[in-house]
Amino acid sequence: MGSCKGRLCFLLYVILGLCGLYKSFVVGADTNQTAQLFVNASQELWRIPETLFGIFFEEINHAGAGGIWAELVSNRGFEAGGPNTPSNIDPWSPVGNLSYIIVSTDRTSCFDRNKVALRMEVLCDSKGSNICPSGGVGIYNPGYWGMNIEQGKTYKVVLYVRSLDSVDIVVSFASSDGSRTLATDHIRLTASDVLNWKKVEILMVAQSTDHNARLQLTTTKKGIIWFDQVSAMPLDTYKGHGFRKELVDMLARLKPQFIRFPGGCFVEGEWLRNAFRWKETIGPWEERPGHFGDVWMYWTDDGLGYLEFLQLAEDLGALPIWVFNNGISHNDQVDTSTVFPFVQDVLDSIEFARGDPNSTWGSVRAAMGHPEPFDLRYVAAGNEDCWKKNYRGNYIEFYNAIKNAYPDINIISNCDGSSRKLDHPADLYDFHIYTSANNMFSMGHQFDHTSRAGPKAFVSEYAVTGKDAGTGSLLAGLAEAGFLIGIERNSDVVHMASYAPLFVNTNDRRWNPDAIVFNSWQQYGTPSYWMQTFFRESSGATLLNTTLQASSPSSLITSAITWDDPVGNNNYLRIKIVNFGSSIVNLKISIDGLEPNSIVLSGSTKVVLTSNNLMDENSFGAPNKVVPITSQLQTAGKDMDVVLSPRSFTSFDLIRTSDLRFKEVESVHQSFI
Ligand code: AHR
Repeated sequence: MGSCKGRLCFLLYVILGLCGLYKSFVVGADTNQTAQLFVNASQELWRIPETLFGIFFEEINHAGAGGIWAELVSNRGFEAGGPNTPSNIDPWSPVGNLSYIIVSTDRTSCFDRNKVALRMEVLCDSKGSNICPSGGVGIYNPGYWGMNIEQGKTYKVVLYVRSLDSVDIVVSFASSDGSRTLATDHIRLTASDVLNWKKVEILMVAQSTDHNARLQLTTTKKGIIWFDQVSAMPLDTYKGHGFRKELVDMLARLKPQFIRFPGGCFVEGEWLRNAFRWKETIGPWEERPGHFGDVWMYWTDDGLGYLEFLQLAEDLGALPIWVFNNGISHNDQVDTSTVFPFVQDVLDSIEFARGDPNSTWGSVRAAMGHPEPFDLRYVAAGNEDCWKKNYRGNYIEFYNAIKNAYPDINIISNCDGSSRKLDHPADLYDFHIYTSANNMFSMGHQFDHTSRAGPKAFVSEYAVTGKDAGTGSLLAGLAEAGFLIGIERNSDVVHMASYAPLFVNTNDRRWNPDAIVFNSWQQYGTPSYWMQTFFRESSGATLLNTTLQASSPSSLITSAITWDDPVGNNNYLRIKIVNFGSSIVNLKISIDGLEPNSIVLSGSTKVVLTSNNLMDENSFGAPNKVVPITSQLQTAGKDMDVVLSPRSFTSFDLIRTSDLRFKEVESVHQSFI
C-alpha cells in the first residue's frame, strides 16, 4: 500500500471518515446482510467418515451413578465409607432412635472384595417393655437425592440378609420423610434360612408416585440383622440392560456413531489408586468393590462397569471407544520400566471385550451373559497426559503390545497432531477444546490447514465454557454448531467428534455446562444438545462443494451434505448454516448439478435453532424454550431466497428424487387433483 502525506492525506481521511459515518447510518437503518451460497450437488468432495459424530460419556456430575445407571440405592454395599470399620454409612440413616436401634458396620460380608456389611441391632420388640414404634425401626436409603418411584411401575429389590434368629422385615418405598408408603412387602424367613447370608429378591409395584422417595428396611422384632448389597431398580430399563430409559432415549436421538468412555479425568484419577480399574467393575454386581472417584469426588458402586459400557454402546449402535488408564494419574505416574502390568491389564480388557468366549477373559464376559464379542475397534491411551513425563514411554509400550496382539485396533494418542507432526505412531490423536463462544465459532477453521498426512483427529471433547455458556446457552450452542460445521468440512482429517460433558445431575454440578441436564425424574437438553441433532445424518453422508459470498462472511459458516435414506428410499440434500451475527441475512441459495425438477416440494423442511435472547437456556420448567423448530420449506428448489434469523442455526433439508421417481410422485399428486 502506498503512503500519503500532508494536506492531501488529511482530506482523504476526512472523506473516508464521512464515508464510514454514512455507511454506519445506512447499516443502522437497514441492518440486513446479504449472502449468496453456491452448492454444487454434482461435486461430491468425499464421503464423511461413518464415525464422525458420537458421544463422550464420563462418570462426572453423577452422570452414571445416580444418572443413566438406574440403580436407585446409593452405597448399596456399605463400602463408600472405606474398608475399615466402624465406617460412615452415608447416605443410609436409621429409622428410629438409639433407644430402639443401634446401626453399625462390620467386616462380615460374604463377598471377599467388599467385606463391609451393615449390622442392625434392634433393641425394641412387638411385646415386652421396649415396644417398637408402630412403623418399626430400621434403616433407609434416600438414593441419589431422592428415588423416583412412579405409580404402576415395578421395582426389583435385591438384598442379602443374615441373622441369628428368624426375621420379619418390611421392605418399602416411602416418601422422603417416611410418612407415606408407596409400595411395601415383607421378608419373613426362619432362623435356618438366614443363619448364613441369604439373597432375597422382591418385585414391588408402586401404588403412588413420589420423585423424592426412599427405600426402607424396617422391623418390629428384637434381634440382630445384617444387611449387604441392597439394590433397588426399576424393572423397565433401556433394552432391559439397567439404564434409565428416558436418559438413554436422549442419547439414541443423537444417533451417536461412537461412545467414548468412561472419562476424562475419571480414567486418570487424582491418584492412580483411585483410577477406574476395569477388572474391579466386572462380574456379579454384588462382588464389585466400588471405588471413590477422587477427581469428581464421589463414590461409585460400579454397577455401571466395563461390560455395561460396552453393552450401552451396542444398544445404541455405537462403536465403543475405551479410554484406558496408561499408568498415569493427575499426581503420580508409573515409570515406563514398570508399566508392563498396566499394559497386560489393557490387553486383558481387550480380550474381555472381543475375545473368543473360550479365552481367559472372553469366558468371563460370556459368563456375564454376553458370549458374542463386542465390536471394540478403538482404544485411547490415557486422557490429556501428553505433556507428562512418562507419557511417550508408556504410550509406546501400550502401542506396541496392542498392535502386536490386535493389529486392527485403532490407537488414539493424547498428543495433539493438528499443528505439528506426532513424534510417535498413532491412528488418531485427541484434541480437546473448551473456550469462549467467539473463539469456538472461529475455530470452525481450526483444521483447514492441518496436514492431511498422518493420523486423524479425534475432537473428543469440545464445548463453550465460561460466562458465554451460562448453564447451557443458545450462544454456546450456536458457536459449537459453527465449530462442528467446520469439522464436517474438514472430515477428511477429523474423523470423530464429541461434546463434553454429556450429563449433569443438577444435585452435583461438578462441571458446567453439559449437554443433558437431569434430576431423579426430569431431563432436558441444552441448546448444545439440540444443535447436535442437526448432525446426526452427517456421519457417512457425502460432503458437497459449497461457496459462500457474503457481506460479512466471518459471521457465517455453512456446509452441504447429501445422503440416502434407505427407509424412505429418498435422497436428501441438507444445507446447514450458522448465522453468528446479530443481523438478518438474506441468503440466495443456488444449487447446481441437480437433475431438472429433482427436488420434491412436499416434505422438504427448514429447521431453525434460535431464540429471542442469546443467553436463553432450557430448564426443567421450560425444557423446550430453545429447541429446533421444523417448518415446511415452501420455496424448496434449485434456487431459493431464504432469510436467516440473527444468531441462528438453520438447516434446509431438501428431498431429492430421480427424474423417474419424481414423475411418479407428480402423477400421484395429479391423480388427486
Ligand atoms: O469434560 C470434563 C473434563 O475436561 C474431562 O474429564 C477432561 O478430559 C477435561 O479436562
